[in-house]
Amino acid sequence: MVLNNNLKMNRERLEQQQVADIALRIADLNVYYGESHILRNVDLSVPVGQMVCLIGRNGVGKTTLLKTIMGLLKPRTGNIIFVDKDITNLATDRRAKLGIGYVPQGRDIIPRISVKDNLLLGLEAIPGGRKSNTIPQEIFDLFPVLRTMLSRMGGDLSGGQQQQLAIARAIMGKPRLLVLDEPTEGIQPSIILEIEAAVKRIIKTTGISVLLVEQHLHFVRQADRYYAMQKGGIVASGDTADLSQEVIQEFLAV
Ligand SMILES: Nc1ncnc2c1ncn2[C@@H]1O[C@H](COP(=O)(O)OP(=O)(O)O)[C@@H](O)[C@H]1O
Ligand SMILES: [Mg+2]
Repeated sequence: MVLNNNLKMNRERLEQQQVADIALRIADLNVYYGESHILRNVDLSVPVGQMVCLIGRNGVGKTTLLKTIMGLLKPRTGNIIFVDKDITNLATDRRAKLGIGYVPQGRDIIPRISVKDNLLLGLEAIPGGRKSNTIPQEIFDLFPVLRTMLSRMGGDLSGGQQQQLAIARAIMGKPRLLVLDEPTEGIQPSIILEIEAAVKRIIKTTGISVLLVEQHLHFVRQADRYYAMQKGGIVASGDTADLSQEVIQEFLAV
C-alpha cells in the first residue's frame, strides 16, 4: 500500500512536470467552416523552449489551426491548453495577454501609421497595457533594419521588412509562445535567412516557444519537431533531424 502510494505520488509528480514542460497542447480538435469539416481530430504539442513546425500543402488547414489557437475560430470539439490553462473558450485578446504572440499569414502590419507606432501596438498584449513609448534595444538587435525606419510609414517598407516588423511587433508583447504563419512567403532568400536567424535568437535569448507554419525547407529544418498535415488531419510527425525526402516531397512545395 505504501509502495502503491509512492508510485502514485511519483506518477503525479511526473505528470505535473510534463504539464510544466509543454507550452501548448492541442487535443482532438475538430473545426468546421459552416458545414465543411476542416480540421479533423488534431493533436499537437509544443514543448517549452522548442520550435515546432507545421507543414502541409496549400489548403490543408494550417492557417485554420493557427486561427483556432488564437480564438479567431471556435472548435466544435477538442481542447487547447496553454501551459496549464484551458484556453479553448477564451477571447482572442485574453489569449494574447496570457502570452501568445501571433503573426498572421500576410503579416497584417498597419500601412498608414509609422513603423514605431506599429511596434508600440505590440505593447497592447502586455497586461496593464501600454506604459512605455520606447522601443527596447532587443528589438533592434533582432532586426537592425527597423532602427533606421522608425519614422517611415509601415506601408512604405518592403515585404521582407514588413515581415520583420510584424514579428518584432509580436515580440514587443513579450509572448511566451510565438505563432508564425508562413513568415517567409513571397520573401527574397537573403531576408528569409535573416528572419530564421532572428527567430532562433529569440528562442535562445528568451526561452520562448515557437509554432511555425512554413514551406521553406531550410527554415523547417531549424525547428526541433515537425507535424505534417493533410486534409485537416495530422498524418506524420517527428524530429526534423529525421525528415525524409519522402516527407519533404509529399508535404512541402519544393
Ligand atoms: N473563411 C473561410 N470560409 C470557408 N472555407 C474556408 C475559409 N478559409 C479557408 N477555408 C477552407 O479551409 C481549408 C483550409 O484552409 P487554410 O486553413 O487556409 O489552409 P492552409 O493554411 O493550409 O493553406 C481550405 O479548403 C479553404 O478553402
Ligand atoms: Mg495558410
